Amino acid sequence: MSQRAKDWSTLHDWGVVRERDAPIFTQVYRQIRLAILDQRLQPGSKLPSTRELAQQLAVSRSAVVTAYDQLIAEGYIQGQKGSGTYVSSDMPATSTRPKPKLERTRNPTIQQFNLKSVADFTDVTMQGSALPFNLGRTLIDARTHEQWRRIAARTFRSLKQSHFGYSDPRGYLKLRNAICDYLRVARSVRCEPDQIVVTAGTQHAIDLIARLLPDANTDVWVEDPGYLPTRQSLAAHGARVHPIPVDKHGLIVKAGIKTAPKARAVFVTPSHQFPTGVVLSMARRLELIAWARDAKAWIVEDDYASEFRYGGHPLASMQGLDDNDRVIYIGTLNKALFPGLRLGYAVIPTGMLQALVTARYLSDRQPSTITQSIVADFMEEGYFAAHIRRMRLTYRTQRDALVSALQNSLHDKLVVDPPDQGMHLIAYLKYRLSDINIERAAHEHGVVVRAMSRMYMDAPAKSALMLGFSGYPERSIAPAVARLAKAIRN
Ligand SMILES: Cc1ncc(COP(=O)(O)O)c(C=O)c1O
Repeated sequence: MSQRAKDWSTLHDWGVVRERDAPIFTQVYRQIRLAILDQRLQPGSKLPSTRELAQQLAVSRSAVVTAYDQLIAEGYIQGQKGSGTYVSSDMPATSTRPKPKLERTRNPTIQQFNLKSVADFTDVTMQGSALPFNLGRTLIDARTHEQWRRIAARTFRSLKQSHFGYSDPRGYLKLRNAICDYLRVARSVRCEPDQIVVTAGTQHAIDLIARLLPDANTDVWVEDPGYLPTRQSLAAHGARVHPIPVDKHGLIVKAGIKTAPKARAVFVTPSHQFPTGVVLSMARRLELIAWARDAKAWIVEDDYASEFRYGGHPLASMQGLDDNDRVIYIGTLNKALFPGLRLGYAVIPTGMLQALVTARYLSDRQPSTITQSIVADFMEEGYFAAHIRRMRLTYRTQRDALVSALQNSLHDKLVVDPPDQGMHLIAYLKYRLSDINIERAAHEHGVVVRAMSRMYMDAPAKSALMLGFSGYPERSIAPAVARLAKAIRN
């Protein structure tokens, strides 16, 4: 690591109070020693030169030299010839201040911070696990890696004034143009670049929309089972969340109308229901659009992972079907490319545009201009479309490998439902085996499976495992299934 990277101490607010009973050099010595002990100055940090510090403190240089000599003698700091003075790298990491811990208890802390009704906070540490078959992971092949590096390097070489300033909260126009072109062709979305708001991903879009609900206790429908963070975000903003059951045709619209006919919004995943993977049938789509028109409700179409379609007959977006401007279409580049990117988009009906742009501005002003610039070029130069085409083949191969490995070694324990789309599959457990117990046992065997029963609210929960297949090369799949089989049989 470069020394310069740790050169924070020049920013420290050094000062002497000129205590009557302590000489100046002692005060300088005590201050630096305390900063080292309570780790404001970390091992390896560079200290200011004696001349700089003397100037900053308005004391004589000899007082600082004496303090440094004392600290060197006691082993707190070390001089390096020609380079400066550093906090000793072998300082024990003891601290006089307790370090704040990531709070793991559930309700008490959350309630303290006014995240209403968020009882079961998603386990954020699990999300980052690279173990098979964690959900939501993607692969980046060598070609995409190389193209991405090249475009990123080019962008950084030719930084312009526009990269440094504030800009349109809707996002970079070139990126909105590229997203619009893509959505018109790939998903039959009706859009103009002006209606597109670039977000940090679908989760951000969901949260922004949840903020716009007219008042606390607004009725909203969500799918049951469904995507937990959607429900949690709505609850956190005070919505009255109504879980509406899902069958093999998707959301049961009649049940929604019966439960909360005057709901102001419905959040759906029509092209690949999360988690079950069913497609919302055309009849249900038309029923939902007609209800939203009459009830003046918003349909929030979460079209996550629609890029990865492996067969069957794809249905275009609901947004493209709706003539009444009631559908808010949201999508993500975090699945199409990689989750660390944190970029997604929402296509906003004109009547809601100003409100949503304001909410976006208040939440974090605008997306990062440099990242948007890289993605816009990546899309415009055709690499995005090529990436999707290649990854469809890769993920399909991985899906097939997972299906056959599960069928070979666990056909007596579970029934696999191979999906035509998406990045995960569902394996329904036989003989009332508990998905929660298997989730835990699998983790002990180095495999991540998510219990689908956790995704239910009111509907009778099915015991099934959710297995992501997109993030794991074909060769790693069979060995991981063998470990899962061992966990289940034990
Ligand atoms: C149904 C659904 N919606 C939204 C998201 C969030 O995606 P993003 O990473 O773009 O916030 C996910 C992520 O797994 C998802 O499964």
